[in-house]
Amino acid sequence: MSNITFTMIKPDAFANGHTGAILDKIIQSGFRIVALKLTALSMENAAGFYAVHKERPFFGELIEFMSSGPLIAAVLEKDNAVEDFRKLIGATDPAKADAGTIRQLFAESMGRNAVHGSDSDENAKIESSFFFSNLEKF
Ligand code: RTP
Ligand code: MG
Repeated sequence: MSNITFTMIKPDAFANGHTGAILDKIIQSGFRIVALKLTALSMENAAGFYAVHKERPFFGELIEFMSSGPLIAAVLEKDNAVEDFRKLIGATDPAKADAGTIRQLFAESMGRNAVHGSDSDENAKIESSFFFSNLEKF
């Protein structure tokens, strides 16, 4: 079990002005910020990041959305980070997300669902390295 996870505040939540509230909730929930940046993905970057989903019917829509504007990328540290962060963000579909979760509070829809959270320790490492060099992690 690693203590690192990777997150993005997706373009919908950034554009809707939810960045401060989401970061506050993350910090209040006991996660320490290891790395943080405002950045954006090209269509090509987004396709690389979500390559695991390339055969899925929603892939085109996902890539277009994730490259549609700026987003916040961050690496977070906490005991049991991956699992605890998935609990904090809630289900992929905000209509099914538990009350008080980030997606229940801030997501617009299944596609525009406010935040990303790594789904395994291995992917947390891969995703963190996709966005951050060792010089950008503290
Ligand atoms: P994420 O990777 O962004 O944290 O989301 P997740 O694990 O909860 O969901 P995942 O299955 O990995 O899907 C990645 C993203 O693709 C979009 N999606 N759209 N329209 C659809 O049926 C559909 N299914 C997935 C969502 O934005 C989801 O977060
Ligand atoms: Mg996922």
